[in-house]
Amino acid sequence: MALSRDEAWEKVALHPDPTLEELFADDCDRVDKLATRLELGGDMPGILFDWSKTHLTDEILADFEALARASDFAEMRAKMFAGEVVNPTEGRAAEHSALRGVGKDSSVEEAEALRERMRLLVNALHEGAFGEIKHLIHVGIGGSALGPDLAVDALARDLPLVDVHVVSNIDGVALEEAFEACDPQTTFVAVASKTFTTIETMTNAQSALKWLADNGVSDASGRVIALTAAPEKAVEWGVDETRILPFAESVGGRYSLWSSIGFPVAVAVGWEDFQAMLDGAAAFDQHFRDTDGRDNLPLRAAFADLLYARIKGAQTRAVFAYDERLRLLPDYLQQLEMESNGKSVTVDGKPSGPTAPITWGGVGTDAQHAVFQLLHQGTHLVPIDFIASIEPGDTLDAAHHTILLMNCFAQGAALMAGKSSDDPHRNYPGNRPSATILCDDIDAATFGALIAFHEHRTFANAVLMDINPFDQFGVELGKEIAKKIEKGGERFDASTEALLKAAGVG
Ligand code: F6P
Repeated sequence: MALSRDEAWEKVALHPDPTLEELFADDCDRVDKLATRLELGGDMPGILFDWSKTHLTDEILADFEALARASDFAEMRAKMFAGEVVNPTEGRAAEHSALRGVGKDSSVEEAEALRERMRLLVNALHEGAFGEIKHLIHVGIGGSALGPDLAVDALARDLPLVDVHVVSNIDGVALEEAFEACDPQTTFVAVASKTFTTIETMTNAQSALKWLADNGVSDASGRVIALTAAPEKAVEWGVDETRILPFAESVGGRYSLWSSIGFPVAVAVGWEDFQAMLDGAAAFDQHFRDTDGRDNLPLRAAFADLLYARIKGAQTRAVFAYDERLRLLPDYLQQLEMESNGKSVTVDGKPSGPTAPITWGGVGTDAQHAVFQLLHQGTHLVPIDFIASIEPGDTLDAAHHTILLMNCFAQGAALMAGKSSDDPHRNYPGNRPSATILCDDIDAATFGALIAFHEHRTFANAVLMDINPFDQFGVELGKEIAKKIEKGGERFDASTEALLKAAGVG
């Protein structure tokens, strides 16, 4: 008989708790069962995902598979790919995969037409249609900045076609830093905002426009391009329709890298690599759409996530990229995972129980010399993802990359094995879980696949927890209060009043 969702959760929670070393000792096929290589297809490289150093077992996986069935995971996934409403609080679909060519036919076609418009504009910019353009200042925030910033930093390290500066913060220091690095005569400005109303972005856009005009650019507004799902607002703001690259309302802000929000990526790396990034993501879409149970890698990742966050009480999860090119990945994942799944009610509005852990992390090996003490000997349970590439990103002596990879693997081994000592200060308890994602290379296709993997993992977590990952009402209240302060005439709590007075604002 089919289990209810609650019964399935009860079963998942009822497992003995052997140590990682015991799990390896009991099952000599553990690595074969839990480490899976995904070939992205064609001439794209592959990625190895290894969860053998987590506490997942055959039995736990089987119970999580039962939970997935009880949660109508396959039906929810089908609804998402069919472009049906999966964000019920806002009555929206979530069609980021259609931007990569996997989704409802009409949405894929619409996305292709918009992408072609973007391609023509990117090529026009490269070919000098706007004069000589050496710099692009991309203003946007949240999902309109984190993805482009990460992708440009990861993929356009050596000689970008155009020098891109992503500016998100309203703190003018950020924009001024970009101005200092750019020559106004050869700078283009991209204003990226799904809603085209976000105060930080619109203020930064205005200042960038003024900077161009103040520095002798005669047609400053002709140097501005809008990337938005609200083209009418961009027209109102003064952007010519020929320089507006729209995307569909059904694409969420934190899932929008693949839309025109990715314009700076295409400008920096060229169209071919931008398309390769979409193709790598599409390969993961197909895997996620067509694979069932534990063989589905984002779903298996969600099983591990939930084992720690829900059953074993982990309050955080850490991601360490042993690759300088992915140094911005933890920042990107923070928004993806915490804005999506940082919720406390189910889809029906009932209390949900524990949801997303806090995502944090850094870059290896730097983090080893800063935060790893706590991971090895502290009192928190922190499941870790290590991400590395077999191919180096550098051209220096091979020793650099060898030392990097050796350290990455050594950390996973040390966290698991620990080391006992009679001296409590020198004792390492071990049994600390980690997963390793080992890419053949960090090229555009692999990068796209990695991001799509995390998007689908976030969705799978949400479905199993019965929460809506596609709204983000939690960010609204602070914005409302900031607006009230700006408008004036309202009283706030004594502490806030005192701060406003001390700073002389409001
Ligand atoms: O404040 C949160 C948020 O709405 C994010 O979800 C979004 O990515 C960001 O603001 C920026 O929004 P927009 O692209 O509409 O400027």
